[in-house]
Amino acid sequence: MELSFVVNGTPRSVDVDAAETLLGVLRDRLRLTGTKEGCNEGECGACTVLVDGLPVDSCIYAAGAAAGRGVETVEGLTRDELGAALQAALVAAGGVQCGFCTPGFVTTLVAVLREDAAPSEDAVREALAGNICRCTGYSQIVDAVAATVAGRNGR
Ligand code: FES
Ligand code: FES
Repeated sequence: MELSFVVNGTPRSVDVDAAETLLGVLRDRLRLTGTKEGCNEGECGACTVLVDGLPVDSCIYAAGAAAGRGVETVEGLTRDELGAALQAALVAAGGVQCGFCTPGFVTTLVAVLREDAAPSEDAVREALAGNICRCTGYSQIVDAVAATVAGRNGR
């Protein structure tokens, strides 16, 4: 089937198989390898992308379901003001170590911060329940969100 959707603001059309996942289309066909394949079972969040602004595990999201929708990956969010600020804060706070989980965290957190410009720590931790990081212990990531919020509010 022909899949037509918008990826990081650019209309794309790709010939896909019915069984293909959005993750496979992004990585293998569009060469957007910033989105990572971890568990491939919807458990780790490494493959998180935004579909019409909402985080989804692209490893268990049928590519065909993205037809007509807008998809944002970490590559697009690098060009997004909020996404870029968050990535810089993650680096500064030590929230990026091996980095494998980072695209998924960035993607989830951009959605959180678009919805609420100053989320509580509890809300941030709850939103991150589906994103696993084996390196940081999470505190540095939560600190980076606080720094991003402070920077955006001029504090
Ligand atoms: S690779 Fe998709 S949730 Fe782990
Ligand atoms: S930085 Fe290594 S898994 Fe998160």
